[in-house]
Amino acid sequence: MCGIVGFVGSGGAIAAVVEGLKALEYRGYDSAGIAFASGEGLDIIKTKGRVADLEEKIPASTDSDVAIGHTRWATHGVPAERNAHPHADAAGKIALVHNGIIDNYAKLRKDLEDEGAHFASETDSEAVVLLIAREYRGDLVAAVEKVLPMLDGTFALGVVAADNPGLIVAARRGSPLAVGLGENANLIASDAVPILPHTRKVVFMEDDQVAVITADEVRFRADGKDVNPVVTEIKWSAEAAQKQGYDHFMLKEIFEQPRVLENLVRGRIALPDDISLPPELNMDGMEIPEQYFAGVSRIIMIAQGTAYHACMVGRNMIERVARIPAYPEYAADFRYRDPILDPTVLVIAVTQSGETADTLAAVRLARERGCKVISIVNVVGSSIARESDGVFYLHCGPEIGVASTKAFTSMIAGLYILAIRMGMVRETLSVNDARRRCENLVTVGHRVEGILSTANYVRGIAMNYKDASNFLFLGRGTGWPLAMEGALKLKEVSYIHAEGYDAAEMKHGPIALIDENMPALVIALKGRRYEKVLGNIQEVKARQGKVIAVASHDDNEIHKFVDDVIYVRADSGIMNSICCAVPLQLLAYYIACARGCDVDKPKNLAKSVTVE
Ligand code: G6P
Repeated sequence: MCGIVGFVGSGGAIAAVVEGLKALEYRGYDSAGIAFASGEGLDIIKTKGRVADLEEKIPASTDSDVAIGHTRWATHGVPAERNAHPHADAAGKIALVHNGIIDNYAKLRKDLEDEGAHFASETDSEAVVLLIAREYRGDLVAAVEKVLPMLDGTFALGVVAADNPGLIVAARRGSPLAVGLGENANLIASDAVPILPHTRKVVFMEDDQVAVITADEVRFRADGKDVNPVVTEIKWSAEAAQKQGYDHFMLKEIFEQPRVLENLVRGRIALPDDISLPPELNMDGMEIPEQYFAGVSRIIMIAQGTAYHACMVGRNMIERVARIPAYPEYAADFRYRDPILDPTVLVIAVTQSGETADTLAAVRLARERGCKVISIVNVVGSSIARESDGVFYLHCGPEIGVASTKAFTSMIAGLYILAIRMGMVRETLSVNDARRRCENLVTVGHRVEGILSTANYVRGIAMNYKDASNFLFLGRGTGWPLAMEGALKLKEVSYIHAEGYDAAEMKHGPIALIDENMPALVIALKGRRYEKVLGNIQEVKARQGKVIAVASHDDNEIHKFVDDVIYVRADSGIMNSICCAVPLQLLAYYIACARGCDVDKPKNLAKSVTVE
């Protein structure tokens, strides 16, 4: 949560920081601010609201060589100008932006107040700048390094001092921070996107590192000594993080799915011409020896939010294909439950950002207990990717819309590839079966494209339901996690109350809610549970509920029983889950637009939950 940016060069700092903040608004957007070196010292401009509001407050001709900025998602203190970052000491000599939470802030604040300090905000971050100011004797690096050990909690910090113009000192523990190495200008940012217009050379800082950044040099330090950084060359372009003509990032990302899935699958699966040979699967940076898969007693899949729903789908795949018991778990519950673990348990962490605080903590716990951890991650160089034993990158490009779409379907495809690999190693899958599954998966992009071609039709259906106050999503088998994901998408972006249920549970509670005002979306693809789902549809209709069915393209009967049908061309388990996700995303998107909601930045939500 919260995004920070900093730029130091010769001119252009304010524009670079404002643009960077816009790119980070998905991390939080209740207030924003900037501090920059002016002729006389530091100027700070802040506002409650969006980065666009901040931009309006900055006089047009203002420029500077150095600036730091922040876009906020409130933790300590309500969204208000006084709580917006950057925070400064009383003399305005030192300014700071912070992403993270300082756990011992109450004690720090009390100690500082006892010493006579005055707080202008309710934030934990202000304590940090006041401590740095207290320790400052003209050497900003020394002051920051002195304060860091006093802090408990998580932080990514950018600090500037009025009498050290041309310098940013950055530090990280637990919150992500990237440093861009440019030509005559260097930057910091919470992720790589704001850096890309300037350079593709990025260092993802390690915990407890400090970066000393000027226009022509960046030094990295740990334990008070200089250290050599690992420089990563980012492959995707700044353009990939723009809307490219779509009204919203969410819509762009929905429409990117055919290409993203095709890249993911084609980059991982090679099918030898000789059909008696098994498929070759490229598992990216996974360092889990094959024998390890053979000896796994149990798999625990940890995630939050949409990624958790992908794990629910993945469980079915792993159990069916690799015959290993698999248990999806919310990372937050897992980490505090004192889970029963041993080294035969394989933990799979699934996360788009690779920074979700609970998932990261669960990864650390599992490794402490001797488990191997594989992560399925989108963001290259993220904390979870770096802290896992092996990482399978989704490489689906930046996902900016807060409601996850392309990362969800990519996670499912990634988990399926992993399941096939495990099945091959454990010999629970024949060469023929592995090949058939891979051949099927290779066509997934094309199938999703077919579904997207019906987007206007889905938009029409959305108009029939845009005024609903409540919604039920039902499905069985892999339709159940899909129902949960469909409900999550709808509530996230349209604020309609929606519940996702295993349709088998309907009679155990939700049926009490059904009447003419409670529409139900039912995932009713042909397959083992089809008849049962039809039974559920009849039960909803008998109580005057309206039904939208997501049905197989060759189902010629279902339209007789329901109010609206969205047909999808899908005929295998994996296709079903990926293909079904797409109309649910579109439905949520179009309903939210019809209700005038801010689709890419839903209220109270942040893309990356880096605090508990
Ligand atoms: C937040 C986002 C969700 C996301 C979840 C987990 O709640 O709004 O879209 O699914 O975090 O994020 P991760 O980056 O770990 O997949």
